[in-house]
Amino acid sequence: MEQQYIIKGGRPLAGEVTIGGAKNAALGILAAAIMSDETVTIDNLPDVRDINVLLNAIEDIGAIVDRVDRHTVRINGSTISSLVINSEFINKIRASYYLLGALLGKYKDAQVALPGGCDIGSRPIDQHIKGFEALGAKIVIEHGMIKASAQSLVGRHIYLDVVSVGATINIMLAAVLAEGKTIIENPAKEPHIVDVANFLNSMGANIKGAGTDVIRIVGVEKLSASEYSVIPDQIEAGTFMIAAAATKGDVLIKNVIPKHLEAISAKLIEIGAEVYEFDEAVRVSANRRLGHTQIKTQPYPGFPTDMQPQMATILAMGQGTSIVTENIFENRYKYVDELARMGASIKVEGNVAIIDGVSRFTGAAVSAPDLRAGAALVTAALVAEGFSTVDQIYYIERGYENFEGKLKALGADIEKVAVDDEKSMQKFKLRVG
Ligand code: UD1
Repeated sequence: MEQQYIIKGGRPLAGEVTIGGAKNAALGILAAAIMSDETVTIDNLPDVRDINVLLNAIEDIGAIVDRVDRHTVRINGSTISSLVINSEFINKIRASYYLLGALLGKYKDAQVALPGGCDIGSRPIDQHIKGFEALGAKIVIEHGMIKASAQSLVGRHIYLDVVSVGATINIMLAAVLAEGKTIIENPAKEPHIVDVANFLNSMGANIKGAGTDVIRIVGVEKLSASEYSVIPDQIEAGTFMIAAAATKGDVLIKNVIPKHLEAISAKLIEIGAEVYEFDEAVRVSANRRLGHTQIKTQPYPGFPTDMQPQMATILAMGQGTSIVTENIFENRYKYVDELARMGASIKVEGNVAIIDGVSRFTGAAVSAPDLRAGAALVTAALVAEGFSTVDQIYYIERGYENFEGKLKALGADIEKVAVDDEKSMQKFKLRVG
């Protein structure tokens, strides 16, 4: 049964919210976990759809997956009986391609369905393939599958032509059990790269330099048991920071690493919000209409593309004209037409959005075009006058755990209801007035 959010805007968010584990780190870590034949325990996992699909894929190839509780899993990869990840999983979540690097590294053989295009643009995997080939794997693409196999994997010097999170993680996975030394130059430096490397090292891998311009890996014979806690989700935190400022609220966002949020904090301060940093929390507040700025998405430590829709939304209600340049993905403005239904004035030319801030948004029926844009539309609805519905929230649930519950606890008028469930909608409208 398809569900949607119904939201009445106008309430400033106030109170405290606790951020969950980083989805994108957890995806790499779960794939890495199957590389050991001993039991690995991972906690601070977010309970979101993408993670659950990857766990199903891991179970499907024969590994033992023991969900201890919503946020903790035990994995044992000694029982893996198949090296084929079929399209059922890849179609639901691209990052199941991390199993290609993990299985290739461990068994020198793997087949994974080729990921298709996606809602934010074409997403090539040439850099992943280049890395595997450099390590000595033979890659064949046929019948929609990528087949990777090797007699042995041998460490090499690999220069990435494009800074890619996925390729960096996949190559690290394959290289940790290769013979000798691998050097990855021009890798991605995102916090989740560092987290995946720390987790691999906790299993006995030898990776140095994750988070810097050069990653050095010395292959080891095998990986062992480990207990590991995933880092907090930078993008979930950033999304709540924007929602707090957009609604002119005051929110303490807990369980974060403030350093990972600097690009977002800096922009919020620039447009007039207040951001206070604590050891493991940030507090964001605003008490007036915010201003305008320029944003260019860049690999970390630049402004994250995964925060572009949320940031553009707050700028669309600010004073003055803002310019947003999307440098990572080619089709990441699909939410602009939806925001226009709420009154936003945004013109997109190529990869640039020119945003003329408007003083009011009005509630409308909108549809989430992808994960982060979906969160941006919810933020817009929290500010808009009157009622909005956001449908296709399936996308939002891929990456945000209990999004509506966390917003409700901060005072938002939001409810998840079945699409066309008029009775629940009426009840909500009566309740919030
Ligand atoms: C990851 C994140 C995603 C985020 C993105 C950029 C996960 C599961 N997803 O996606 O949320 O938006 O990083 O921060 O962690 N590219 C190539 N060839 C390749 C690989 C990538 O040309 O082989 C290009 C892509 O088209 C894109 C850029 O490199 O323009 C960055 O992509 P990449 O960092 O690989 O993104 P993902 O790992 O897919």
